[in-house]
Amino acid sequence: MIQRPRRNRASAAIRSLVQETRLHPNHLVQPLFLVDGKNKRNAIKSLPGIAQLSTDQAFKEIESCLKLGVNSFILFPAVENALKNKKATYSYSSKNFYLKAIAEFKKKFPECCLISDVAMDPYSSDGHDGYVDGGKILNDVTLPILAKMALAQAEAGIDILGPSDMMDGRVGYLRMALDEKGFSETAIMSYTAKYASAFYGPFRDALDSAPKSGDKKTYQMNPANSREALLEAELDFSEGADYLMVKPATVYLDIIQQLKQHFTIPIAAYHVSGEYAMLQAAAKNGWLDYQKCLEETLLSIRRAGADVIISYGAKDYATHFSR
Ligand code: PBG
Repeated sequence: MIQRPRRNRASAAIRSLVQETRLHPNHLVQPLFLVDGKNKRNAIKSLPGIAQLSTDQAFKEIESCLKLGVNSFILFPAVENALKNKKATYSYSSKNFYLKAIAEFKKKFPECCLISDVAMDPYSSDGHDGYVDGGKILNDVTLPILAKMALAQAEAGIDILGPSDMMDGRVGYLRMALDEKGFSETAIMSYTAKYASAFYGPFRDALDSAPKSGDKKTYQMNPANSREALLEAELDFSEGADYLMVKPATVYLDIIQQLKQHFTIPIAAYHVSGEYAMLQAAAKNGWLDYQKCLEETLLSIRRAGADVIISYGAKDYATHFSR
């Protein structure tokens, strides 16, 4: 035998020497679910280890993540049903606790990076990402609502906007609205290839945001398609996106790899609620080792080409990360 690949696996030092992919906590984004009020930590049944947090509790969470090297957070609001309506007006109201929380986080932790969610569903009485009329999701009626929401978040001091709605043309529309109002430094991380996935279930439990009727298949992508992801990426890139995101992550590693090969801006991947909940559930039953499976999962997403990984396990990964 001339080639013996095992020679390069002989010791921990050698394995580390030839390791191709590394994942540092700096590459990770921790999602936070925010709720109005004080001293609240509402557990989410289908997302073990994750809770809805009031701003004061989120301070603690952000602080402990920063100590571990997780510097970036993606924020989602859990809105009372009484404040939801057809046009999602609470999303840009000056009373919105989520906007106030963004401003407070930026004041207390200016060094952290905050990513928002731009979509109607947390605020919509219909539970859809766009405006609903007669059972249809109206694309062009939704765009100005998203722009109002995005501008309010930019004013609050968000670093990166995260349009997760999948309406056509929204990246360009938001970019223009931002630039017009002087927010040329606010970046856009576009949910570029967001699939109509059943893995979002626990997230919708967390925000009570499931569609009241129908599904999201007329705007989120068909899981069977990959060339369409390239089309979405071309559009988002040409409309001014700063990051292209693939979501979910592990069942779409091929899409991550394709976007990485074709585009030069950073590629983000969202390891979504259902993907995280599966690991937690199996571990609870004693069937899998949560920490090891989490590390292997996140590493695989990075290996496929993700520069940035959003995961509910970000803090857990960082806790066990050895420098
Ligand atoms: C909605 C949104 C969803 C997620 C992020 N933003 C759910 C959906 O599209 O229904 C899912 C994230 C997750 O499952 O962790 N705009």
